[in-house]
Amino acid sequence: MGQKIYETPDDALCATDRFYESQEGFQYTEELVRNWLTRYVNLPETGRVLDLCCGDGIWAYGMKCLKPRLELFGIDVSSGGIDKARTLMAQSGDAGNFIVGDVEEKLPYPDAFFDLIFARGPGLYNQHEMDRPETVDVIEHWHTKLSTRGRFYSIFASTPLQMGTYTAMENVKLPYNRCPRKSNAVDFKGGKFHHTIQSFLAPFWRAESIDVVEYFFIKNNHVLVTKKRECE
Ligand SMILES: C[S@@+](CC[C@H](N)C(=O)[O-])C[C@H]1O[C@@H](n2cnc3c(N)ncnc32)[C@H](O)[C@@H]1O
Repeated sequence: MGQKIYETPDDALCATDRFYESQEGFQYTEELVRNWLTRYVNLPETGRVLDLCCGDGIWAYGMKCLKPRLELFGIDVSSGGIDKARTLMAQSGDAGNFIVGDVEEKLPYPDAFFDLIFARGPGLYNQHEMDRPETVDVIEHWHTKLSTRGRFYSIFASTPLQMGTYTAMENVKLPYNRCPRKSNAVDFKGGKFHHTIQSFLAPFWRAESIDVVEYFFIKNNHVLVTKKRECE
């Protein structure tokens, strides 16, 4: 039987809070997270890192364990997720840096603040037409928060056989994705869109203030590394 779908994005958000508050969540093991980060992410030794759409914070926690001198920050629209992330980060002194917020609005950080932004599965990437001007604007805004040495990791799961199509709402795990959502920057039909390389990279190619550093596809994940374009 399919999972419950929601009438409004607010209902879906409440259910997402419960999803994280319960023992359910995504249930990545610390070992999987550590191994994945070690193999595929070039973590700096020091500096500030933002986990954008951090969920329950398991990826931020993994980064902190691997590089204890990093200062970790996290933001997610789900208060249930942020509560979990603060608990996980409690021993590290970074727990207070984990806040509830909508990343499709202006980010509450100074420009050039972060040496790494790690965005694994942000809601914005679930829509199929990511290269609309309003969406590109949001992605460019995120990059203004990078330092000159900063890198932005965009990670998004897409199954090759399903590329170009949606998984239906009732079949996705995250409750927040079991409701359509529409704003200037988002035209999300609910469910999960499986991006081709072309549709995933399109907004980054279009953005005038972003350079692509590296792209690879590994274990059904697009991994894209970008940076802020330097002024000439
Ligand atoms: C697929 S989950 C990924 C969570 C985490 N990054 C991970 O990899 O385990 C997507 C997350 O994005 C959050 N999210 C979606 N849209 C958001 C928005 N506009 N602002 C902040 N968080 C958002 C959801 O609450 C959810 O925690």
